[in-house]
Amino acid sequence: MGLRTFIKKKIYNLKFSKGKHSEIKNKTILITGASSGIGLGLCKKLVKYNKIIAIYNKNLPNLGDIENSNFISVKCDLADMDNYQNIEKTILDNNVELIINCAGQFGSSSQLISNIDFNNLINILKLNSLSILKILQLIYQNNKMNYLKKIINLTSRAGSIELNDKGNLYVYRTSKSTLNSISKNLSVDLKKQFGISTITIDPGNVQTGMNQKGFLSSEKCAEYLIDIICDNKDHNGAFINLLKIKMPW
Ligand SMILES: NC(=O)c1ccc[n+]([C@@H]2O[C@H](COP(=O)([O-])OP(=O)(O)OC[C@H]3O[C@@H](n4cnc5c(N)ncnc54)[C@H](OP(=O)(O)O)[C@@H]3O)[C@@H](O)[C@H]2O)c1
Repeated sequence: MGLRTFIKKKIYNLKFSKGKHSEIKNKTILITGASSGIGLGLCKKLVKYNKIIAIYNKNLPNLGDIENSNFISVKCDLADMDNYQNIEKTILDNNVELIINCAGQFGSSSQLISNIDFNNLINILKLNSLSILKILQLIYQNNKMNYLKKIINLTSRAGSIELNDKGNLYVYRTSKSTLNSISKNLSVDLKKQFGISTITIDPGNVQTGMNQKGFLSSEKCAEYLIDIICDNKDHNGAFINLLKIKMPW
C-alpha cells in the first residue's frame, strides 16, 4: 500500500473510531449475503444473542466456524427467481423479525456503454434489486408479515442519481438505483400496511470480497449497522450512510 493510500485509510477510519456497542437480542434475523464480507461480519456478531437465518450461494465454508444451535444456513441463488424453495421453507418454519439484505455483486468487469453485457445486467438486477421483493413476497404469501419489524437494504453511493459525477458502471449503478427505488417504496407501503420500517444504507468503503482494497473492516461496519438498527430514531424511508448522515437519492 502506497503512503497516500495509507494516509487516506487512516483518515477514513478516524471517522469510525468511536466504538459502537449496541446489541440486538432475542430476534429472528434473516441475513442475505451472509457468507462473505459485511453479511458475514453481521452474522458473527448477531449470532451470540439471536437466531440467524444465513442465506448463502457459493461460500458455505465461510460459515463453517459459526457453531451455534441458533444458526441456520440456507443455500439459494437469489438471482434465480424460480428457485427460492429453500428460503420459503425456512420462512414457514420461522418468524422473521428483521431482514438485513447484504447480498450483491458488482457485475461484469467492464460496464462501459460500448460493451454492456445485458445478460449480466439482468442477472445483477435480479440479485441486487429484485431478490428482496421476492423474499418479502414469500413472507407475505405465507402470512408472516406481522412478525417482520425492520428491513435493512445495503445499497451504495453508486446508486445515488444525484451523486453520480463519474458515469460508467451501468450494471452496478442501475441495480443499486433500482434497489433504492424499491427500498423507498417499501418504506411507504409496508409502514402503512404492517408498521414495518425500511432503511436504505450505504456502507461506505469496506474491505470485503467485492472490495478487497476497502478501508473499513467488515466487523466495524457491522457494529455501525447494528447501531443504526438499534437507534431510537426510526430512519424509516431514509437513505443514510454508516454515520447516519442522509444521502441524496
Ligand atoms: N464493500 C464495500 O465497500 C461496499 C460498498 C458499497 C456497497 N456495498 C454493498 O454491500 C453489500 C455486501 O457486499 P460485500 O462488500 O460484503 O461483498 P462480498 O464480500 O462480495 O459479499 C457478497 C455476498 O453476496 C452473496 N451473493 C452473491 N451472489 C449471490 C447469488 N447469486 N445468490 C445469493 N447470494 C449471492 C455472496 O454469497 P456467496 O459468497 O455464498 O456466493 C456473499 O455472501 C452488497 O450489496 C454491496 O453492493 C459494499
